Amino acid sequence: MPDPALSPHTASQPQRVIAEAAVLENVALCREHFRLRVFTDPFPQAAPGQFVHISAATPDNLPYATFDWSPGRTPDLQAWSQSSAAPFLRRAFSIAGCRREGEAARIEVIYRVVGKATEWMASLKPNDKLSVLGPLGNRFPIIEMKRAAWLIAGGVGLPPMLWLAEVLNQARKTTIAFCGAQSKDLLPLTVDPRSAPSPTAKNATLSAAEFSRSNVPIVLSTDDGTIGFHGHVGNAMSAFHNANPLDHNDLVIYACGPEAMLQFVADFSTRHKIECYLCMERAMACGMGTCQSCVVPIRDATDPDGWRYQLCCTDGPIFEAGSIIWDK
Ligand SMILES: Cc1cc2nc3c(=O)[nH]c(=O)nc-3n(C[C@H](O)[C@H](O)[C@H](O)COP(=O)(O)OP(=O)(O)OC[C@H]3O[C@@H](n4cnc5c(N)ncnc54)[C@H](O)[C@@H]3O)c2cc1C
Ligand code: FES
Repeated sequence: MPDPALSPHTASQPQRVIAEAAVLENVALCREHFRLRVFTDPFPQAAPGQFVHISAATPDNLPYATFDWSPGRTPDLQAWSQSSAAPFLRRAFSIAGCRREGEAARIEVIYRVVGKATEWMASLKPNDKLSVLGPLGNRFPIIEMKRAAWLIAGGVGLPPMLWLAEVLNQARKTTIAFCGAQSKDLLPLTVDPRSAPSPTAKNATLSAAEFSRSNVPIVLSTDDGTIGFHGHVGNAMSAFHNANPLDHNDLVIYACGPEAMLQFVADFSTRHKIECYLCMERAMACGMGTCQSCVVPIRDATDPDGWRYQLCCTDGPIFEAGSIIWDK
């Protein structure tokens, strides 16, 4: 059973739609990251941690419909895939921001160009159409009893943290974001030159516009030391922790990024007995619990083996850190 505390839906709410979306904006943020803002009508209520599945297929551009699906014929998907600029399968992107307009919404995603889909996304212009399936997955829980939150974002783990920071600010939590990138030119944040990021990671500053509008100071780190702390974001978090004693019972950690980083954060939170939730970005095909391609091994005392697989797309992508088995 998925953890009900992580579930975003009630019985009366529509869960997800496939909607045609119109591009409002698609801008470069740094060397390989873009922000895509789309208008989607309708779009059900969503929460930070949830994601959308994006494809080029709209009613005007339905590659599936042009295939010959009659009995005995096998559509040549490979040939279509090679001839098309857009991929056949949808791709998953965390929702980085969502502004409601009645039943519709303006949705923001931040993506790094790594392959066919993201190259196609980088070519989109205002008023271009795409298909958005969502919102999918569960959400980051907001823990009422706890007053402090740390957001740990590595690389393209940053987008869901921007929306989470906004919601935590509305819930009056004292939040700090730890943001790591390989290098300064791969950091999709607007760093304020008047407020230099701490190279020792002992202080958090209101140095990135995207977080300071949610009153969230940040600690920056880069693997090559071109800005902020020199090292990975987990070590920046540890350095800050050593310099700033705090009540572990009053803190929740939320993290998203590469799995090695997530495992580091999970070990840290277990060692210090801090409540912690991780956003797992497993490679996905259907995004809706059908293809079984996105399994995550999870501890389960009720199972005779003590664990079982859960699906990242429907049971996750948010999992409680201590429940994940990393070495299976
Ligand atoms: C729930 C979820 C949320 C995500 N949110 C974001 C986001 O906000 N921004 C963003 O840029 N990306 C995000 N991703 C990853 C994104 O889906 C992939 O980068 C995308 O599918 C790449 O498509 P492509 O065709 O451009 O590249 P592909 O040709 O499909 O892949 C290029 C390279 O990226 C690797 N890759 C593909 N998917 C993943 C993945 N899930 N994790 C790690 N490596 C992967 C491939 O192995 C390959 O090496 C998310 C993934 C999931 C599952
Ligand atoms: S992506 Fe198909 S089951 Fe998760």
